[in-house]
Amino acid sequence: MAKVWIERIFTDPEVYLLRIDDEKIKYFEASWDIPEGISYNAYLVKLNGANVLIDGWKESYSNDFLKALSNLIDPKDITHIIVNHTEPDHSGTLPGILNANKNRAKVIASNFAKKLLESFYNITNVEAVSDNQQMQIGEKTFRFVMTPWLHWPDTMVTYLDGVLFGCDVGGGYSLPSAIDDSDERTVEEYLPYVTKYIVTVIGHYKGYILEGAKKLSSLDIKALLPGHGLIWKKDPQRLLQHYVNVANGVAQKRKILVVYDSMYGFVENVMNKVLDTLREKGFNLVVYRFTDQHDSPVSEILKDVPDSRALVFGVSTYEADIHPKMRYVLYEIMDKANYEKPVLFFGVHGWAASVELTVKKILKDSKFKFVSFVETKGGKIDEEKMKQAIEALLKELE
Ligand SMILES: Cc1cc2nc3c(=O)[nH]c(=O)nc-3n(C[C@H](O)[C@H](O)[C@H](O)COP(=O)(O)O)c2cc1C
Ligand SMILES: [Fe+2]
Ligand SMILES: [Fe+2]
Repeated sequence: MAKVWIERIFTDPEVYLLRIDDEKIKYFEASWDIPEGISYNAYLVKLNGANVLIDGWKESYSNDFLKALSNLIDPKDITHIIVNHTEPDHSGTLPGILNANKNRAKVIASNFAKKLLESFYNITNVEAVSDNQQMQIGEKTFRFVMTPWLHWPDTMVTYLDGVLFGCDVGGGYSLPSAIDDSDERTVEEYLPYVTKYIVTVIGHYKGYILEGAKKLSSLDIKALLPGHGLIWKKDPQRLLQHYVNVANGVAQKRKILVVYDSMYGFVENVMNKVLDTLREKGFNLVVYRFTDQHDSPVSEILKDVPDSRALVFGVSTYEADIHPKMRYVLYEIMDKANYEKPVLFFGVHGWAASVELTVKKILKDSKFKFVSFVETKGGKIDEEKMKQAIEALLKELE
């Protein structure tokens, strides 16, 4: 049984959190390894003459959601359902709730979400709202702010009396042992999972993160209640700033990310020398490798890009291309974690050097700054060339 949290967050207005901890999930969006799990957070706001449900859970938890909700209210008494985002990790429970509600509630969503609700679930009776539209519900003023591409084109957030219901905006992976940010240790343990969530889920739309953060900064936000992970009551600005820092790729001074593959140990020999040299220079190295003994989750590699100063790759030549695992890693980095950071390559081939051009092609349309590609036949690296390449990288970091 998945853990369910039902907690009253505020008394005026009366706001409840309904959170379920999905620890069964292995690959978010069928892509990203998340052994840490993810929670889905929905909210119920009880007002004078109105009961407003905001978002929901994944479809597989429909029964749990109805049960949890029924602890707080008869589903038939829900008067409004706000759908901030239609991705099924939040909207999957909507058909079941509407059924239990006998379709009495007014469903509110963006214009784009209205179309998606029809195509996903055949839900047609939706009131579409536009950017900054206000709506009086139960003697309170709700405001809807469009935040397109955070995470989908349909996405909006809902603002009520200083409380921002962010859905994907403000979310993170993992199952925090608390519901909010009041304990500093909980927050510190949680923030890396926020970074991983940002890069893997919305990293492709970094520009929109900055745009969205700017737009939301005009609101007086006293609390941020997202659709995943911790809620932010003590310091919501801290989380919004974290989103901005990740989008901007704000780096730790001495952190370098290293990723390599090695089928039979030749690339590894080269990279061990590279790692020793970088360590001697005082860098903190975060190393991921693909060998006949080790695999590395690409989601973790992506998480370590934003706060690295530079990226160093070791690649073997494989059928005149780069190793398939490294192809995937590079493709995802270019797509999800594309930053103005210097990158250095060490390539190893058996009989024909052929991948430098491939690598340059991959980097061509990215923001990354190509520093050098040091080619080696077999495992015997030219140490002078290696040192020169590392010096060139360090120059970029001055
Ligand atoms: C499946 C496979 C395909 C390879 N394809 C090429 C190739 O197209 N061109 C080349 O020069 N070397 C090729 N090689 C040789 C490797 O690039 C070379 O042995 C290199 O040193 C591998 O380093 P590693 O054992 O650390 O992965 C291939 C090796 C394997 C196992
Ligand atoms: Fe989403
Ligand atoms: Fe989500």
